[in-house]
This record gives sequence, C-alpha cells and structure tokens, in this order.
Amino acid sequence: MFIVELLRVESLSAGYGNMTIIHEVSFSVEKGEIFSVIGPNGSGKSTLLKALFGLARTFSGYIFFNGKEITNFPPHERVKNGLGYLPQTGNVFEGLTVRENLLLAGYEYSNGELDERLESVQEFLPDVKRLMDRKALTLSGGERQMVALAMVLLKNPIMLMFDEPTAALAPKIAEEVFGRIVKLNREYGLTVLLVEQNTRRALELAERALLLVSGSVKFFGSADELLNHRDLLSLYLGL
Ligand SMILES: Nc1ncnc2c1ncn2[C@@H]1O[C@H](COP(=O)(O)OP(=O)(O)OP(=O)(O)O)[C@@H](O)[C@H]1O
Ligand SMILES: [Mg+2]
Repeated sequence: MFIVELLRVESLSAGYGNMTIIHEVSFSVEKGEIFSVIGPNGSGKSTLLKALFGLARTFSGYIFFNGKEITNFPPHERVKNGLGYLPQTGNVFEGLTVRENLLLAGYEYSNGELDERLESVQEFLPDVKRLMDRKALTLSGGERQMVALAMVLLKNPIMLMFDEPTAALAPKIAEEVFGRIVKLNREYGLTVLLVEQNTRRALELAERALLLVSGSVKFFGSADELLNHRDLLSLYLGL
C-alpha cells in the first residue's frame, strides 16, 4: 500500500510567553489513520495540539501539513488547508443557538455552499437537526460535543484533532463519541489525531501513537506495541 504522510512534525518546541512546554517533538501522522497522543496530566498534550493549530508559541522546529510548511500559518490559514481542531473546552458559543453557532462556523461560505455543507453535516449528525433552535447553554455535555463537532466538520477538514473529546462524559456517551470518531475515519476517510485520557481506548482505536511526558516524546510507533509496553504504561500512566 502507498502510505502518504499527512502531518509531519520536526523537532518542534513550543509553549507560552517565554516558557517552553513541549521540547523537540518529532512525529508524523499518515493519511487515513487514527493517531493517538497520550500522556499524564500536564505533559503538554493540549499545548501540542494548540501549537499544531497555531495557538501556542512556536520557538523552533517545523510543521508540514498536506504537502505545505505551515509552521507559522495563523489558525484560519491552517483551517483553509484542511486542518480541524476541537479544543478541550470552550468550543461552542453558549449565548447563541445551535443554528447561530453553525452559521458563525460557516461564515466564509456562500449561501448555496453553506446549505450544502449543513446538509452533509446533518446527514452525519442527524441529532443536530432537533437541537437547531436550542441555546447552546442548555445542551448536555454530549450534545455540546456533537455541536462542536458539527461546527468543525462544516469546514470540511482533511484531518481532525480532538482534545479529550470524552472528558466529563458518562461512559455510554463516551462510547458514542468514540463510535462517531471511528465512523468519521472509516466511512468519511478523515485522518484523526486524538488526545485522550482514556489511554486504553485511545490505543485500541489508533493505528499509531505518541506518548508525551513532560513535553518530550517517550514513545512513537505502533499503538498495539505501546498498549503492550507494560513498563512504559505503568511508569508514566500508572496502568
Ligand atoms: N496558557 C498557558 N500559559 C502558560 N502555561 C500554560 C498554559 N496552558 C497550559 N500551560 C502549562 O503547560 C503545561 C502543559 O499543559 P497542557 O494543558 O498542555 O497539558 P495536558 O497534557 O493537556 O494536560 P491534561 O491531561 O490535564 O489536559 C502545564 O504545566 C500547564 O500549566
Ligand atoms: Mg489537555
């Protein structure tokens, strides 16, 4: 099979202000795979995603995405190139209805294009339809997660980065979210970069994975291999 690298990160150091949080991180994500990033609390997983999306400060290194160097692109340029990002928190505007949230997410489309995108997003997430006129504030955690996903999918990403999409969700709802991620990957061909606190599920779902500890890479390779690497998992994740 012909394997295409969609994302390549080379020796990336990034953080906030003058503080370096992630140190010379290198890895790659192949087109069509689910790739998981795991690591203890505070190890820099969210910071890594923010750096990839242009929201953290990059000190050195390179980010290549879909054949382009995007290291210093602002977030909206990354979105234009097919990168999607679902942050850990604050991913919907609470004071607005679901419809208004979606219109805001699709502001760059012409009316015709927007209708088309909305239709295809609702085909994948039919439950969004019945939530259209609800204020985001009134949504449950799982519904909110779904609307946030709809907003990102509206922009037609090639790769979607999820930051702990199941945090604070009941186990049953969390499984629905995992199911949705797998469906996006298998049926819609979306490449997925998944940050998860549920290490076991994250490694079961992924083809390959990265273990981040104190901002440095401790493992990069097959998710199966990491799942069976008892020493690493017990040392860093207490499993
Ligand atoms: N905006 C910020 N300004 C300064 N430091 C920050 C900022 N955001 C995070 N940090 C620090 O960066 C380090 C890594 O945090 P980060 O949120 O990336 O970790 P994480 O692996 O996502 O943790 P968790 O599993 O708890 O979500 C922490 O020490 C944190 O305090
Ligand atoms: Mg985090």
